[in-house]
Amino acid sequence: MKIPPRELTTPDGRAYTIRSARPSEAGKVLDHAWRVRAEPEVSVEDQDEFRCDADQLRGILKTALEADNGFFLIAAAGDDIVATLSVAGGRHAKVRHVGEIGVSVRAGWRRRGVARRLLEVTIEHARAAPALRRLSLEVFARNTAAIRLYESQGWAHEGRRRGHVRIGDRDEDVLLMGLLL
Ligand SMILES: CC(C)(COP(=O)(O)OP(=O)(O)OC[C@H]1O[C@@H](n2cnc3c(N)ncnc32)[C@H](O)[C@@H]1OP(=O)(O)O)[C@@H](O)C(=O)NCCC(=O)NCCS
Repeated sequence: MKIPPRELTTPDGRAYTIRSARPSEAGKVLDHAWRVRAEPEVSVEDQDEFRCDADQLRGILKTALEADNGFFLIAAAGDDIVATLSVAGGRHAKVRHVGEIGVSVRAGWRRRGVARRLLEVTIEHARAAPALRRLSLEVFARNTAAIRLYESQGWAHEGRRRGHVRIGDRDEDVLLMGLLL
């Protein structure tokens, strides 16, 4: 799905646009994804395990534009990508109506409402998409920032995978959350 641009400003006056990522922006999206994987507490995939290249990502962005059950949003400030939110629709018939969410905001842009706006745009367009009936996500149980955000937007707690990730010598739980559209 192609999501049209929405012009926004943070409370401290930074202008940005939420819109679908273009396949030609694959390099910048990749750079953003790589940076986020430097944070050990938020993603299952570590930075040194990140193998996606610009060609693969170009394909992912093109597929997202063509899909009726998914999309790939960016928050762009000038030429910079400061946040991304992907909705990956299920590939099998029985789960085509499920969109799996992944969201991240660049460190210097956090606590300015960018993720909240991205999720609002996402929920609005997902509700309008006949092919989608629910959104799902997984979040590390210690990621209180993300969990508070999802709870504040009506996402339900749907389960806990105990000890599902191992960070150093620590076993950590992962929470399953969902939103019916
Ligand atoms: C989680 C994340 C996406 C939030 O992005 P953000 O743009 O900073 O979030 P927002 O400014 O829109 O905040 C929305 C709400 O989330 C919660 N929140 C965000 N950051 C928080 C923090 N550091 N501590 C506590 N609550 C926090 C608050 O409820 C906040 O609302 P408020 O500002 O009115 O109190 C961002 O911290 C991030 O990219 N983290 C790394 C990647 C990640 O964890 N992704 C989610 C994986 S499931």
